[in-house]
Amino acid sequence: MNKNNIHTVFDKIKDRREKEIYLKQRAKVIWFTGLSGSGKTTLASLLEKRLFELNYFCQILDGDNVRSGINKNLQFTDEDRIENIRRIAEVSKLFMNCGIILLCSFISPTNQMRKMAKEIIGEEDFLEIFVDTPLEVCEQRDPKGLYKKARTGEIKNFTGISAPFEAPQKPFLRVDNTHPDIDRTVQHMLKKILPEIKFDPLKVL
Ligand code: ADX
Repeated sequence: MNKNNIHTVFDKIKDRREKEIYLKQRAKVIWFTGLSGSGKTTLASLLEKRLFELNYFCQILDGDNVRSGINKNLQFTDEDRIENIRRIAEVSKLFMNCGIILLCSFISPTNQMRKMAKEIIGEEDFLEIFVDTPLEVCEQRDPKGLYKKARTGEIKNFTGISAPFEAPQKPFLRVDNTHPDIDRTVQHMLKKILPEIKFDPLKVL
């Protein structure tokens, strides 16, 4: 395919600001990273529920869902994980240009992958939440029975066992998801996120 034959029409599409004004919110990508079983999906869905109650319009993108649809041709090699994250970041940007708040929950195990996502989405709009649950806890929870399979070698390249996970050094927020009171954790996230997504009419006039 000759890239010279691509003629983008971004300038003809209604502006993101107009859509944000319509939705009375600022679009952002809230990016959950952490081990499998760390609680990313649970926290993202509880947060979505709270945001919805507060009239915010969100979309969740989640590892297992995306990998059973748009990314179903991808495996867990380093190369495929990079492609997984690249596509998700591009899709997130499309939603964001529609004024929507994204809640993305993907292991996204390396600094390189998260840096790429941040570059595609734009540093300003990328809010990284590190769900910092220790490997021992994730393995003990093992909600999908995958750690067990990874230990026996039935699953290869399993993050934390036979593939790396690099903890983010400077996330927007680090949450401890071992605390029994999960509502407190959600409240803590909400407090940090609300100022970022709050619609400020004075700023758009
Ligand atoms: S990522 O590394 O490319 O960001 P992603 O978040 O999309 O991963 O998918 C992770 C989910 O896929 C896990 O929660 C788990 O259910 C499943 N999975 C299957 N095989 C693996 C594997 N080898 N490593 C990690 N997760 C796996």
